[in-house]
Amino acid sequence: MSTSPPAPTPVPTPVLGPDGALPQGDTKRFAVEAMFDRVAPGYDRMNRIISLGLDRRWRRKAVAALAVTPGTRVLDLACGTGDFSRDLAAAGHRPVGADFSAGMLAAAHTGTPLVRADAAALPLTDSAFDAIVCGFALRNFVDLDTVFGECARVLRPGGRIAALDAAVPDRALLRAGNAVWFRGAVPLLGRLLSRDPDAYRYLPASTAYLPPAAELVGLLASAGFVDTRHRTMTGGSVQLLTGTMA
Ligand SMILES: C[S@@+](CC[C@H](N)C(=O)[O-])C[C@H]1O[C@@H](n2cnc3c(N)ncnc32)[C@H](O)[C@@H]1O
Repeated sequence: MSTSPPAPTPVPTPVLGPDGALPQGDTKRFAVEAMFDRVAPGYDRMNRIISLGLDRRWRRKAVAALAVTPGTRVLDLACGTGDFSRDLAAAGHRPVGADFSAGMLAAAHTGTPLVRADAAALPLTDSAFDAIVCGFALRNFVDLDTVFGECARVLRPGGRIAALDAAVPDRALLRAGNAVWFRGAVPLLGRLLSRDPDAYRYLPASTAYLPPAAELVGLLASAGFVDTRHRTMTGGSVQLLTGTMA
């Protein structure tokens, strides 16, 4: 009886180019999806480590910023493993999670209904939600205009949005400290602890995708949101963007 040789372990395609270049357009879409599929099993542990456990507090603040009453239908956009959904359900809301990474959805730890979907083309009906939360995904989207347009479509008039993402502090000392952690320690931790070290080089580099605060607010307003507000937390290393659907 002949035995076939073991299949070779697939070599992951790095999300960053050889010179550290960030992918764009469709290349970005596919590379980001594949990267999250790969990191999904260890995502929660790495998330806690690189945020120094503060990610839970940031999500709680984002949920509070929605200023909605229990029972609210909330879309957890780019839900990943479902941390936001869990917090929302615990607060008495009715979350639904959406993410395009099958790996992240498979690693999710929430009883919330989950749908595999691209944020740029949500398979959800118009005005289906009272609120949207989005955690650390803005910089991963290919086209923020399109995604905010989809958010506006699936929210009812008066519905609220709260989006969290990483940011680079304005103040020099805090920016230096942030760089030591995010550009120095995080890639090193990725090399030591993650099955996809490249992902933890992409993480700090990908903040470069994000437009400045005023432009982010302008994009949200162009999509039809009012009462738009941008604030930062933890010394400017995290940003929270909120608005209300007109
Ligand atoms: C950094 S993780 C954040 C996950 C979760 N929101 C959290 O707070 O932990 C970013 C997530 O965005 C998802 N994502 C990125 N681009 C997406 C897109 N175009 N459509 C849907 N999900 C997307 C990824 O699959 C990943 O799960």
